[in-house]
Amino acid sequence: MKRARLLVIALLLLAGLPMQSAQAQTGPAQQPAVGQRGKDVIWLPTALELVDRMLDMAKVTKDDFVIDLGSGDGRVVITAAQRGVRSHGIEYDANLVLLSKENAAKAGVADKATFAKADIFESDFSSATVLTLFLLPELNLRLRPIILGLKPGTRVVSNTFTMGDWEADESAAVDAVQSCQYWCMAYLWIVPAKVEGAWQMGGGGGRLTLRQGYQVVTGALEAGGKSEVISGGRMKGAEFSFRVGGATYRGRLNGSKIEGFVTTGDASRPWVATRIGS
Ligand SMILES: C[S@@+](CC[C@H](N)C(=O)[O-])C[C@H]1O[C@@H](n2cnc3c(N)ncnc32)[C@H](O)[C@@H]1O
Repeated sequence: MKRARLLVIALLLLAGLPMQSAQAQTGPAQQPAVGQRGKDVIWLPTALELVDRMLDMAKVTKDDFVIDLGSGDGRVVITAAQRGVRSHGIEYDANLVLLSKENAAKAGVADKATFAKADIFESDFSSATVLTLFLLPELNLRLRPIILGLKPGTRVVSNTFTMGDWEADESAAVDAVQSCQYWCMAYLWIVPAKVEGAWQMGGGGGRLTLRQGYQVVTGALEAGGKSEVISGGRMKGAEFSFRVGGATYRGRLNGSKIEGFVTTGDASRPWVATRIGS
């Protein structure tokens, strides 16, 4: 008798499973209302003109992986996928996730545009090479330490909201006449490699001591018994450039080495530096 009851329960559970998963997968999704509540921020769609501008600013290519944090109806992810780029949306609202999947299927890009129902603050988005956001200033600030730990060179594009004292590398507005009425500003940041520390220049070129505030680098080059302050120090991903004593140094940081070329007037020669302290 007990065994028979268990068997009935097991059969009922098994019968319910496909129904539940079918319910979770089938639409149609409900149309969202602009301004509807979200977990940490309401849903507002980015104007399609700005979506294009954001992807252009990030210079997305087919080698990129775009992740939209709080992906709403999926428009950023789907637009990227229509450009042939693999893309993924993380969205807390299950109905918006369903709608995004329907929209991706209608646009014929379901193979390239994927969506997950998840909390962005509990998700791993470190595989992104391009990250897009339309959140809030305080949410950007909560994400900032994680974003700064992403692979150097990762591009981050935000609709309207900035990153506190981490200044954008670039910004652009879409004109109201191009049918973007509100929230029409895009900001781009490129995650800088960490260059702060002490570096020994090759060929007896001296010692470079660097301080770093996001992508801005200051410091001095000590060589031949004198110290000269560097100017224009900047990281663009892993690309480092600065000027000192009439020479312009450009190089690429790779692990504990920087390698590149130094130009003085018309002359150019290779330079290398090795990290000797953090
Ligand atoms: C302003 S909308 C932007 C939608 C879309 N990225 C766009 O640009 O059109 C913000 C989205 O974030 C979602 N959201 C809010 N808090 C979230 C969280 N903690 N995790 C995932 N999604 C969240 C909301 O449901 C909403 O769809």
